Amino acid sequence: MLREIRPIEGGCPQQFSLLTEFCVPFPAPIKPDFSFIDLFAGIGGFRIPLQAINGQCVFTCEINPHAQQAYQLNFGDKPQGDITTLDLNVVPEHDVLTAGFPCQPFSISGKMKGFEDTRGTLIYNVFQIIDLRKPKVVFLENVKHLLHHDNGNTLKTIIRDLEHLGYVVSAKVLNASDFGVPQNRERIIIIGHPSKKFDFSQLQTKPKPTLKAFLEQDAPFEFLNEPYTLLTDYKVQDSGLIFIGYRNKSIRKAGVRPGTENLSRVHKQPNRIYSTEGLHPALPSQETSGRFWIYHQGAVRKLTIKECYKIMGFPDEFKIRGNSTELYRQVGNSVCVPMIQEIAKAIKTQLLSND
Ligand SMILES: C[S@@+](CC[C@H](N)C(=O)[O-])C[C@H]1O[C@@H](n2cnc3c(N)ncnc32)[C@H](O)[C@@H]1O
Repeated sequence: MLREIRPIEGGCPQQFSLLTEFCVPFPAPIKPDFSFIDLFAGIGGFRIPLQAINGQCVFTCEINPHAQQAYQLNFGDKPQGDITTLDLNVVPEHDVLTAGFPCQPFSISGKMKGFEDTRGTLIYNVFQIIDLRKPKVVFLENVKHLLHHDNGNTLKTIIRDLEHLGYVVSAKVLNASDFGVPQNRERIIIIGHPSKKFDFSQLQTKPKPTLKAFLEQDAPFEFLNEPYTLLTDYKVQDSGLIFIGYRNKSIRKAGVRPGTENLSRVHKQPNRIYSTEGLHPALPSQETSGRFWIYHQGAVRKLTIKECYKIMGFPDEFKIRGNSTELYRQVGNSVCVPMIQEIAKAIKTQLLSND
């Protein structure tokens, strides 16, 4: 394991450098019940909940240097870089493999060579590790759209390859808003075990919260200083979103049918403003996407970085450092921690217990 012990900013004094590992906000458990590896680790959205249920992270990889820094600041470990150039022998044996792998569409070569068919994609590198180390549980996460890539063939290939590797696979789309966070964020979860089928129906869900309960009371808020329109006739959508207005941004007129300019403005997602009495749409990974504007207490303002981390379910102790573009990118790329925690708890009970 790559345990680089370094003094942590604002943490332990230098002279106690051997103890600094224990001063990070999310130290490893002292008597772990199981081990896991954290692939495409980002800022550790899997690691926080797996550690919280007494898992020990024994290997991590993440290519982005900013995310690596955030990871090290919070966990004390510097992830390995590019998974495609890894010497697989450095990956130790482990009980659970987690991977929120980047979404890459691919087509089945049709040669039916097992997972070799996915060569050249990042999921292929994950399959190589699974093949070598045969973890007890494979826990994958991706965007809901994976269902539709290549008419569903991408997902079918992933499931088929996991089955060829010896796993019984279950997959389901879950929404973070059912796990205590005010965000309409749907993600596909894929879980494999050598003999047991994971039962998603055992997950404990919660009533959907409202965004307003997660907001800062006092911060240097950025209010919208351009014209916007509030809708008088709005309703709570089935998803829990309340689309209450839109920014009157100048819109592309070329190619738009006369008389439909306003429609395209209204329906363009980035211009939308949502009420804090409901949920927020899925946080994107680009600050410039314009999807961070909320209507709260009679004004339109942008979600603060801290609020973004909060509505992804990151605990308050999570250290947030760096420029805002990077921070929005990192949090938008991450996973909703409480949703992963609920799944991880169920994995521990259903798939890691001895019986
Ligand atoms: C969807 S994000 C996963 C984020 C993570 N689950 C979290 O909680 O923050 C995918 C991550 O894979 C990383 N990545 C992309 N290509 C990679 C590669 N070749 N090797 C290692 N990491 C890679 C990206 O930098 C990104 O942080």
